Amino acid sequence: MQLVFLGAPGVGKGTQAECVAAELGITKISTGDLLRAGVAGKTRLGLEAKHYMDRGDLVPDNVVIGLVDEKIGSLECQNGFILDGFPRTVPQADSLSDILRKRQLVLDRVIYFVMPREAVIKRLTGRRSCPQCSAVYHIDYRPSKRDGLCAVCGAALVQRNDDKKETVELRLAVYEEQTSPLIAYYRKHHVLAELDGMGSVDDVQARLLALLPTS
Ligand code: AP5
Repeated sequence: MQLVFLGAPGVGKGTQAECVAAELGITKISTGDLLRAGVAGKTRLGLEAKHYMDRGDLVPDNVVIGLVDEKIGSLECQNGFILDGFPRTVPQADSLSDILRKRQLVLDRVIYFVMPREAVIKRLTGRRSCPQCSAVYHIDYRPSKRDGLCAVCGAALVQRNDDKKETVELRLAVYEEQTSPLIAYYRKHHVLAELDGMGSVDDVQARLLALLPTS
């Protein structure tokens, strides 16, 4: 199965992609995680991406398209995948069509996460992340049981640079301008399904699974 999770920053795409990928036995491809790994490893690509990410802008299309193409072609994606945070622009969506076509794959569903803006801001500004293993927490909704430390690997949790209030506003503006046109784009292709992102992680997951095609 090939899926895209679409929606504003903070709506819970990454959290759901993690659970649903495990449930379906497919691979989660998060362009945000791939880029952050490049930043942490100080690769050429990571250093180029860092400036854009820290200020809440999108990384140039050619950088992320290359990353996704390579990942989709890898062995770990042969049973299917969930794209979390890609595509984010119309040129990225066009490139994804080409990438899928050349591998004779189809896009089964685009899940569009819907949530009120205020709730999204609360989720983003309260998020804490593990810089080592990328596990995600929230100070109110998903606190770590190990007080400020990652429950998985023990590293000290941090707030992402782009989760500070000022940058969050900019990311939401960038989403409205550059990514939200993809809602109409995929509606036109008859693959879009709307998902209410409010409620517990389990409730959202149950609603999401009900939107997937049955094979
Ligand atoms: P990226 O990492 O993709 O960030 P994003 O899309 O802005 O998405 P987020 O990770 O912020 O949110 P999410 O929807 O995954 O929410 P989450 O599940 O974590 O991208 C970062 C940057 O990289 C971009 O700004 C850009 O610079 C660059 N980039 C990435 N992809 C790119 C692309 N394709 N093109 C160009 N540039 C790109 O949840 C948020 C919080 O809420 C967490 O604390 C979580 O614990 C909590 N939570 C989740 N679900 C629930 C629930 N049901 N109830 C209560 N709390 C919940």
